[in-house]
Amino acid sequence: MRLIRACDYDDMSRKAANALSAQVILKPNSVLGLATGSTPLGMYRQLIEWYEKGDIDFSEVTTVNLDEYIGLAPDHPQSYRRFMDDNFFRHINIKPENTHVPNGLEADEFKESARYEALIYSCGGIDMQLLGIGHNGHIGFNEPGAAFEKNTHRVPLTEATINANKRFFPDGDVPREAYSMGIRSIMQARRILVIVSGKGKAEIVKQAFFGAVTPHVPASVLQLHNNVTLVGDEEALSLYD
Ligand code: PGA
Repeated sequence: MRLIRACDYDDMSRKAANALSAQVILKPNSVLGLATGSTPLGMYRQLIEWYEKGDIDFSEVTTVNLDEYIGLAPDHPQSYRRFMDDNFFRHINIKPENTHVPNGLEADEFKESARYEALIYSCGGIDMQLLGIGHNGHIGFNEPGAAFEKNTHRVPLTEATINANKRFFPDGDVPREAYSMGIRSIMQARRILVIVSGKGKAEIVKQAFFGAVTPHVPASVLQLHNNVTLVGDEEALSLYD
């Protein structure tokens, strides 16, 4: 694993954006696996800034996102499709038809899982997969206990996640399930870029990268991948040495 140390969130965002833009500059038709959450927001902002300066071109890039809530329309304010459109895609010159997020409105889980896997395959596989890590070690919606061999699949959300999400759904209609790339889909990416920031992530970073490889800490599987770059700020890496 390659470790890139950053001093704070902004520095982490800039260094992660550097790694991602290097990928796109060296291979303009890269397939990027992207993630939602609070951690990547600064990185997306930085990439938009560099795009506006003319330093990076997304016209040939394809993206596949990790996950989406089941039951939410693409334009729902809390859907991950909407998150990506609002925070990244509509600010850069990526072709909308080259951006992919699981279809939360597809009721047939087997059909949607197979479609999404076939899509990743038909794009040629993921060149670089971006990942945040949850406090419990989840990657995508692969929660502790998730089987390492799964491809894209339907995931029932944990009660903790449902409760944590309640504040975003004033009508009380909180999604209880999601589609997520599985650990296997993630591990097939050629390169993996993990970003972590803040003290709250220090313990899980230590467990994931120093502890045993176990489904109880899904991110620990990344120790078995041969091309992982971890970009973390001082706080997140404070227990790492
Ligand atoms: P965060 O989420 O970036 O909002 O901390 C990471 C994750 O849960 O995967």
